[in-house]
Amino acid sequence: MEQKKPKLKILIRRGAIHERVRAVARQITRDFRGQRVHLVGVLKGASFFLCDVAREIDLETSLDFIAVSSYGSGKESSGQVRLVKDLDTRIAGLNVILIEDILDTGLTLSYLLRILRQRRPKELRVAVMLDKPARRLKPVKPDYWGFRIPNHFVVGYGLDYAEQYRNLKDLCILSDVQEL
Ligand code: IMP
Ligand code: MG
Repeated sequence: MEQKKPKLKILIRRGAIHERVRAVARQITRDFRGQRVHLVGVLKGASFFLCDVAREIDLETSLDFIAVSSYGSGKESSGQVRLVKDLDTRIAGLNVILIEDILDTGLTLSYLLRILRQRRPKELRVAVMLDKPARRLKPVKPDYWGFRIPNHFVVGYGLDYAEQYRNLKDLCILSDVQEL
């Protein structure tokens, strides 16, 4: 049987992404004026957004990463979230901003918020580049977000399909892939 080639269609261009990144950084800077913030990125997808937003925040800023697994290699979440890499440092008393590439079902962020809250940060907020509200299973609301998007599977700017496409500069809709 002949296999279709995966198709990429630009949804959000790099210029628009960077404009929203700067706007999110400005909001964070305003909200935490005179304080320090600790950014926690969810590996690997959020690393691009975290690096870009961190450079635009005009506050004392530290960062750390955490990794979870939930998706397997394809497009659908297994629904089970598991901690794969914990933080390197304690977050008690810190203004923590959890940074994620995309908020989809909310399973990942609701799990992470639960375990991080137990560690008694001073503040715990959520910043996401993308929000797909149509798919939500858990009631997670981001404090900062780049774009609300319809229910497409997207890649680029950190987001992957089977570990591919993370390095695309524009955010693209991926279609016609064989399910893994
Ligand atoms: P949630 O737990 O369903 O909210 O999913 C969050 C995670 O699913 C994100 O960190 C992504 O890794 C992945 N994900 C959800 N939607 C997409 C998508 O459209 N493209 C690529 N990855 C996605
Ligand atoms: Mg991710």
